[in-house]
Amino acid sequence: MRWLSTALVILATSLVTVSAASGLTQCLAFDVNWNLLAFGYGGKDYNAGTQDSWGTSGSATDITASGRPPFDQPNVQCFLSQFTNAIYVINGDSKNPSTVYIYDATAKSWSAQTTSTTPATSGGPQFDPTNFGAILDHDTNVFYAYSDEELFALDMGLLKSANSTAIPWVDVQKPNFATGQSTDSYQPVMALASNHIHFLGLPGLPAGDAKIFVIHFSFLQPDPQLYGSFPTTHGRAASFFQQTGVQTEFAFIPDDGSATYVVNVITNTTKTLTGPSTKDASATYTASTSALVQLSSSAGVSWMGYDSSAGTGTAWTAVKALPAVNLTSQSSGSGSASAGASSTGSGAVKPSGSAGAGSGGSTSGGVSVRVGGGSWWWSCLVVGVLGVGVGLLV
Ligand SMILES: *[C@@H]1O[C@H](CO)[C@@H](O)[C@H](O)[C@H]1NC(C)=O
Ligand SMILES: *[C@@H]1O[C@H](CO)[C@@H](O)[C@H](O)[C@H]1NC(C)=O
Ligand SMILES: *[C@@H]1O[C@H](CO)[C@@H](O)[C@H](O)[C@H]1NC(C)=O
Repeated sequence: MRWLSTALVILATSLVTVSAASGLTQCLAFDVNWNLLAFGYGGKDYNAGTQDSWGTSGSATDITASGRPPFDQPNVQCFLSQFTNAIYVINGDSKNPSTVYIYDATAKSWSAQTTSTTPATSGGPQFDPTNFGAILDHDTNVFYAYSDEELFALDMGLLKSANSTAIPWVDVQKPNFATGQSTDSYQPVMALASNHIHFLGLPGLPAGDAKIFVIHFSFLQPDPQLYGSFPTTHGRAASFFQQTGVQTEFAFIPDDGSATYVVNVITNTTKTLTGPSTKDASATYTASTSALVQLSSSAGVSWMGYDSSAGTGTAWTAVKALPAVNLTSQSSGSGSASAGASSTGSGAVKPSGSAGAGSGGSTSGGVSVRVGGGSWWWSCLVVGVLGVGVGLLV
């Protein structure tokens, strides 16, 4: 069964746009005072305070407020806009997938920013809010998202509450990574530092290399940049903030969790620190100036202290300030397929993690295990081949 699942994952991943997504429906982000915020966490939102208080059990403050997204979508992504002290939430609402929810961390209030994904030219590339990797650029407050092999931008201005005018997702370019291998099924690993987007894990890139997109010139550098030593594989990245100014370091955690690589884009070097205690390819990460935090459905929230000047990391420990809740990982597919397949119950669901890891298929890898039935996979494939909703077929 395992080989079959894996084979199907690979096949389904190659069909990218129809592969089902699975992942956490919770997310973490910091505010500008480096309070750790947990969203959709056991149905609520919490402020766990600064890292000195994370060891105190249950000390987090409930900050659940009206207007928040339902957090009912896998692979919700949350970003700190440092200039505005706002958290932007993408993919937090299955009914309004293109809405960017804004949490004003100063006012502690929510608003919903509509966006437009309609291509500027009919038939042009279109941003898919359920299938993307993204960074929020520090200086411009513009999102850059890689979705279906295309790079898009969304200019958030200096919004800390929604503007009534929808913001367009603008097509930037189809990056020509030119790594010598096909990047058609590349699952983006994007890391922000120095106003550059670092694309990691691209097939064909030598270890330690990143392809760089220079935001201010909207330019993909033709030659990769060598940063030292880290594997060319799928994983997750989180940039360490500075107190002010642009990030210059990011953490890269491969899906196997074997190490935490900290890449410094000023010195072009990489430090190898301890990998997270919980190896979870579906885990997500966020970072402050001095902490890297992991959110895993199997183990909750844990963190590693990071001393940027010494280049050292602490051991990983649990964030005890947050209440004990069963985190849910959810799966869904495009269109009507999601409804039938997405219920995962309330138990602590452990995504499979390993399926499709090599191809970075963590977005689709969990489905085979949790949904279980092979029929789902065949449905996926049928959808992929025929390009029609699975609802029409079952
Ligand atoms: C709302 O967005 C529009 C278009 O980006 C912009 O012209 C306008 O200034 C914005 N309004 C506010 C209050 O930010
Ligand atoms: C890092 O690499 C860039 C691009 O190759 C180069 O311009 C820069 O001088 C390097 N930095 C150091 C400290 O070597
Ligand atoms: C988590 O789920 C398990 C198994 O269903 C249950 O025994 C436990 O009480 C739950 N814990 C919380 C905090 O809800």
